[in-house]
Amino acid sequence: RHWPNAFFEPEPPGLIPGVYVQNLVKVFSNRAKPAVEGMNITFYEGQITAFLGHNGAGKTTTMSILTGLFPPTSGTVLVGGKDIQTDMDSIRQSLGMCPQYNILFDQLTIAEHIKFYAQLKGRSREEAELEMEMMLEDIGLPHKRNEKAQNLSGGMQRKLSVAIAFVGEAKVVVLDEPTSGVDPYSRRSIWDLLLKYRAGRTIILSTHHMDEADILGDRVAIISQGKLYCSGSPVFLKNNFGSGFYLTLVRKRKSFQDGGGKDAVSVQLPCCLPIAYCIHSL
Ligand SMILES: Nc1ncnc2c1ncn2[C@@H]1O[C@H](COP(=O)(O)OP(=O)(O)O)[C@@H](O)[C@H]1O
Ligand SMILES: [Mg+2]
Repeated sequence: RHWPNAFFEPEPPGLIPGVYVQNLVKVFSNRAKPAVEGMNITFYEGQITAFLGHNGAGKTTTMSILTGLFPPTSGTVLVGGKDIQTDMDSIRQSLGMCPQYNILFDQLTIAEHIKFYAQLKGRSREEAELEMEMMLEDIGLPHKRNEKAQNLSGGMQRKLSVAIAFVGEAKVVVLDEPTSGVDPYSRRSIWDLLLKYRAGRTIILSTHHMDEADILGDRVAIISQGKLYCSGSPVFLKNNFGSGFYLTLVRKRKSFQDGGGKDAVSVQLPCCLPIAYCIHSL
């Protein structure tokens, strides 16, 4: 903790900052401990930044503030150079959000959702129609276009929510645990979608899956108790915090018939970033 360079990779030169979080603090009135406590972080254009942290770390609170859901207690966020405290209306024009829990209209179909949001973002009816066709292909659900949201599987609902975040050429896209509770197949296709849509956008993705942060994140920011704990490329974090560790499980055999004695199984955890992620939970 006394050696900041091991925790924070120097910002790569030549990148355009998309979102700049400055000394952000959020104290909820009914809680003594701040949910976000002096957060400073920059998210860059053309990158996916994985916002990795345990439940209660402050991911949703940070994302809610930067999408204008509620104001910070102090500090601020600049989105595309504009301040959320004063320019939220114009920021919203180029902002997309996938909330942690789906907010869909039960009675609207997939196609209607996409067209509705595209028009909210100022597209004409024709443009919305075109965007809808493209999106349906990209999320692999053209055959479900006329299915009502209430009849979709959990994975399909999540894909629709992720797609909605990108509608209307959103430049800054905030995704709050887009793959939580999603089946592995839909999870993969959400990953493919994000990689396809990354160019030219600032994508902020919260997750508590290390594998997801490793695969998708150009940069990974680990947050703990409302503060940024460390950040950098997956390679940087692995170099500084080790590249996996061994977990040895020892199982005591129950009976003589079972052979007696002990079995030892050694497994190398395939994930990255384990130590950085686990330190604060020890
Ligand atoms: N509306 C709220 N009122 C009071 N406390 C809240 C509220 N929202 C979140 N919190 C608290 O703030 C902390 C951070 O929560 P949250 O941002 O949801 O974390 P994460 O998304 O990383 O799981 C938690 O301790 C949570 O209980
Ligand atoms: Mg959350």
